[in-house]
Amino acid sequence: MDALAILIADHNRVRGLFARFNTANDADAVDEMSTLAEQIIEELTVHTSIEETHFYPWVVSISDETKETVSEGIEEHHVVKTLITEIQSLQPDQPEWAAKMTVLIENVEHHAEEEEEELFPKVRSATDADAREALGETLEGAKKELGAPVLADKIDLTLTELKELASDQQIPGRSDMDHDELAATVAPPTA
Ligand SMILES: [Fe+2]
Ligand SMILES: [Fe+2]
Repeated sequence: MDALAILIADHNRVRGLFARFNTANDADAVDEMSTLAEQIIEELTVHTSIEETHFYPWVVSISDETKETVSEGIEEHHVVKTLITEIQSLQPDQPEWAAKMTVLIENVEHHAEEEEEELFPKVRSATDADAREALGETLEGAKKELGAPVLADKIDLTLTELKELASDQQIPGRSDMDHDELAATVAPPTA
């Protein structure tokens, strides 16, 4: 799969977790918030890692413009990691914990939007589909190594199963996604 499609799928999966976290936060459901926060942190750790190790180094070679966006991106990842460390030093029932989670979510929303609207279109127009496909393979391999789910784990699910998972996981834009996009985006069913 195209590397950009994989990264966008990651963004949408974590956006679903953000929506669920915000709902739980409004309901003061601390246990639910705590479970979702763990999933959010796991997702963000894997995603920032594969971007920094494989995607950003590939992108900086494209043009000076993409180089600048990547430098900003790395700094934004740094802010995210700092917030994660602070969140992990607190307990979910401490008031600062939810406040920091909210700031983390706002930061990542901004960062993902910037990548999708500014960086990815430039990358798409400056690279060919085969190269993006090859990088996609590398990203999937890196995810697997980090113990994260990959497309191959979900590709055999039926469209009905995928739609149900996407709905449960509050994946944004799910109604416009085809089978493979849904498969790339959803988290696998929990046993
Ligand atoms: Fe990023
Ligand atoms: Fe990203």
